[in-house]
Amino acid sequence: MQLDPFMQSLGLKYPIFQGGMAWVADGRLAAAVSNAGGLGIIGAGHASGEVVAQEIERAKSLTDRPFGVNVMLLSPHVEDVVNVILKAHDSITVVTTGAGDPSKYLSMFKAADIKVVPVVASVAQAKRMARVGADAVVAEGMESGGHIGKLTTMALVPQVVDAVNIPVIAAGGIADGRGLAAAFMLGAVGVQMGTRFLVAAESKVHPDYKQAVLKAKDIDTVITGEYAGHPARVLKNPMAKRFIRLEKAEAAKTEPDFGEVEEIGNGSLRTAVLTGDRENGAYMAGQVAGLVKQAQPAAEILADVYEQATKLMGGV
Ligand SMILES: Cc1cc2nc3c(=O)[nH]c(=O)nc-3n(C[C@H](O)[C@H](O)[C@H](O)COP(=O)(O)O)c2cc1C
Repeated sequence: MQLDPFMQSLGLKYPIFQGGMAWVADGRLAAAVSNAGGLGIIGAGHASGEVVAQEIERAKSLTDRPFGVNVMLLSPHVEDVVNVILKAHDSITVVTTGAGDPSKYLSMFKAADIKVVPVVASVAQAKRMARVGADAVVAEGMESGGHIGKLTTMALVPQVVDAVNIPVIAAGGIADGRGLAAAFMLGAVGVQMGTRFLVAAESKVHPDYKQAVLKAKDIDTVITGEYAGHPARVLKNPMAKRFIRLEKAEAAKTEPDFGEVEEIGNGSLRTAVLTGDRENGAYMAGQVAGLVKQAQPAAEILADVYEQATKLMGGV
C-alpha cells in the first residue's frame, strides 16, 4: 500500500494514528504505537503541563520514532501544555487538538516545525482549519468514543474531503482493516482509532474497563451530556445510567442548570481508567467496541488492521 505523501512526511509505516485519549494515551502507549510504525499520540486531556512533560519524556525514552500530543482545548492547563509542547518541539512531530478551535496556537506550533492536525466534526470546522493553515484534519464521526459531534463518519468524511484541499484522516467507528479500506474509499489518507487501542497490552486502562470493552455488544454505548451540551459516548454502566437520568430530570425543569450534573461527570474518565469503578467512572468507548474482541499488543493491532486492508484492496 502506497502511503499518501502527508503520511510519508510523518515517517509512518502504517497510515494509522492512535487517538490521543485523555488519561489513557500516556507516553508508554504512544511509544508502543510509534515503535510499531503508527503514530502514537499522548493525550494531554486535563492533565497539568508538568504531567504532560513527564509523558513526553517517557515517550522519548521509549522510542526514536515520531509521535504526537493531543491538546484538549477545554483544559484549564491548556496554556501550560502548549508551552511544554513548544519546549519539546524537537521531539514532537504532530499536535492534534480536540474540543475547540486551535487557531490561536496554530502559528506557534508551525513556527516550531510541528504539524497541526485538528479534530473536526463538521465541514465548516474543517474549512476554517484549512483556512488558518492546519496541515491536515481528523474528521471524526459520532460513532467514536469520547466527546462527539452530530454526523456519522460515513457522511462526514467525504463531505470534508470535498470541502478542503488538505489531507483528511477518518476517525470514529474504525477498528479493523475493513474500516481502514472504507476510509480510503471515502477519500481519507488514513485513520485514527481510539476504542481498539483502549485494550492494547500497553494501555493503562483498568482491567475492569478493558473487560467491559471486550464484552460490549453493538448497542452497548450511550451518549451522556446530550442535554447539558457536552455529548460523550460511553459504555452503558451504572455511572452512565445515573448521569442520563439526572440530566433528563434537569432538562425537564423550566430553568435547567446542569452545573451539579456536570460536577458528577468531572473526573469520571480518570476514575474509570485508574480504578475501573463502574458506579462513578465513565467507560468512554465507541460503537465499534462490539468489534473489539481481543486484547493485543499495539504492534499486532496495527499489523492486523493494515494487512486486512491491504488484502481487501487487492494488495495495492
Ligand atoms: C477514552 C477516550 C478518550 C478520548 N479522549 C480524547 C481527547 O482527550 N482528545 C481528543 O481529541 N479525542 C479524544 N478521544 C477520541 C479519540 O482520540 C479518537 O478520535 C476516537 O476514539 C476514534 O473513534 P473510535 O473510538 O471509534 O476509534 C477519546 C476517545 C476515547 C475512547
